[in-house]
Amino acid sequence: MTKTRITILCENLVGRTLGAGEHGFSAFIETGEGNYLFDTGGGRTVVENSLSLNKDLRTVKKIFLSHGHHDHTGGLPHVLNLRGRVDVHVHPDIFLDRMSVRKESGGESRRFAGMIYKRSYLEFLGAHFLPNSGFIEAEKGMFLTGEVPRRTPFEKPDPKLFREVEGKRIPDTLPDDQSLILDTEKGLVLIFGCAHSGMINIMHHVVHQMKEDHFPAVLGGTHLDFLTPEQLEESIRSLKEMKVDRIGVSHCTGLRAAYRLQHEFGERFFYGSVASILEV
Ligand SMILES: [Fe+2]
Ligand SMILES: [Fe+2]
Repeated sequence: MTKTRITILCENLVGRTLGAGEHGFSAFIETGEGNYLFDTGGGRTVVENSLSLNKDLRTVKKIFLSHGHHDHTGGLPHVLNLRGRVDVHVHPDIFLDRMSVRKESGGESRRFAGMIYKRSYLEFLGAHFLPNSGFIEAEKGMFLTGEVPRRTPFEKPDPKLFREVEGKRIPDTLPDDQSLILDTEKGLVLIFGCAHSGMINIMHHVVHQMKEDHFPAVLGGTHLDFLTPEQLEESIRSLKEMKVDRIGVSHCTGLRAAYRLQHEFGERFFYGSVASILEV
């Protein structure tokens, strides 16, 4: 039986003495069918960490991008420089300009939060974008959620995220946010980018689409630390009602939320720092 191995390639924290940290996320996935990359980090660590962790980016069969934020897509040109032409699954909205706005004393600071590199440049480097907005089987046994219905009353969009449309600032709900599902012999392994759709919304959507409710593991960015304490507590309550064996969080989960999850789930919890490996 071939095992599926997921290695955290880019992440905010370094756990083992391998690799470097940056604000961002990327996971290298090894299956019986080949190697895949989910997200590419912000661009500073993907190549360096792939060398440290002995993951050859030239072997990647396909790339999946979770959403258009710079900290998940900024490493794409570096990967393309090594890999050349390759299929890249994306929601069509990943190319939208977007921003993050923080209130500060006496005003606010605005920061560009979208894809740093333009589509034409990425295509020139070899990206062959395959857009999907709905649920798809992207590769044998590998599914993308597409847009996720926002149903839970407690999972709210991050209030710092905006887009500017015709001169007006509107909340950015990140409709392009999608997660990857690996349909393994043991059940569904679910990988979030930032879970902007809400991790519980995503899990419900996956159960509905896959007609399967056992998750040997869910992992990735959950964005819980950017939101309200109520959302964190309600998410924990919902998570306890679901069939999840292991919960591995990274990136935008934040340490406060990670501590809470560790407290609640004990041995079932792990922090997915750079070089963490999950085998299913
Ligand atoms: Fe992120
Ligand atoms: Fe994000």
